[in-house]
Amino acid sequence: MLIVDRIKKSFLNKEIFKEISFKINKKEKISILGPNSSGKSTLLKILAGLVPWDEGNITLFNQDLLHISLLDKQSLYQKLGIAFQHGGLFDFMNVEENILFALKNMTDLKMFEMKDKIIDFLKRVNLTDVLHKFPGELSGGMRRRVCLIRALITKPQLLLLDDPTAGLDPVNTSLVLETIQKLTEEIQCALLLFTSNVEVAFSASSQVALIKDQGIIGPHTWDELIALQDEWITKFLTGRGYQPQSSVQKRSVSLK
Ligand SMILES: Nc1ncnc2c1ncn2[C@@H]1O[C@H](COP(=O)(O)OP(=O)(O)OP(=O)(O)O)[C@@H](O)[C@H]1O
Ligand SMILES: [Mg+2]
Repeated sequence: MLIVDRIKKSFLNKEIFKEISFKINKKEKISILGPNSSGKSTLLKILAGLVPWDEGNITLFNQDLLHISLLDKQSLYQKLGIAFQHGGLFDFMNVEENILFALKNMTDLKMFEMKDKIIDFLKRVNLTDVLHKFPGELSGGMRRRVCLIRALITKPQLLLLDDPTAGLDPVNTSLVLETIQKLTEEIQCALLLFTSNVEVAFSASSQVALIKDQGIIGPHTWDELIALQDEWITKFLTGRGYQPQSSVQKRSVSLK
């Protein structure tokens, strides 16, 4: 579905990616985990066709992104659902109009179907009574959930989510993670979730690719990453005392 092959990227003299490669198959879920400023949003924007890269190849739905026609590019990006880190909602449109904009451009649904769908999807992330509110009237967490719904509602084949839980309280973080889990299963789409939060990364997917030293390690499971016995990786993963449930269970079984 997506092959990133030896991508290099610098901004002026600042190297962001030395050479990164990874791929994601149909219906697969991968979290891209990395510290602040490690290049997560840059990578998402490269994949979304918004930021050029310097070297290497990207193949998306079997199309080489370097040599694709504008027309093919348009239909290709209709298969993607994207939620940017800083939202990207139109300030001059209310919530309903923002989501309708995506649905009108990406689906053939009738107006009443689109409107019913919007209400149904917003309910799933605890948002009621926001249809006619403008982005400026919503809290940061509400805006984030609207963006998630706007990315998911068009039934994309590949969902790119940049820090979907940043700024959310624990209840809404769990709600958003559950919604991502449930809807990606329902839609049967692949997921690339970018985050700096270890717990969010491993809650969203068992396969995690870690950005380190301008490169990418993995995707690997928690146990595989710990088994690398790299001091920085172990500290980054376990520094705040988190351990994924499956790993805790495995340890307690082996201790018996
Ligand atoms: N358009 C740009 N021009 C110049 N430098 C940029 C540009 N976009 C990003 N950068 C730099 O690239 C680096 C990576 O930024 P990026 O936003 O991709 O990091 P991130 O991993 O998403 O961080 P965060 O966890 O804070 O969201 C940063 O040092 C940033 O200042
Ligand atoms: Mg970012």
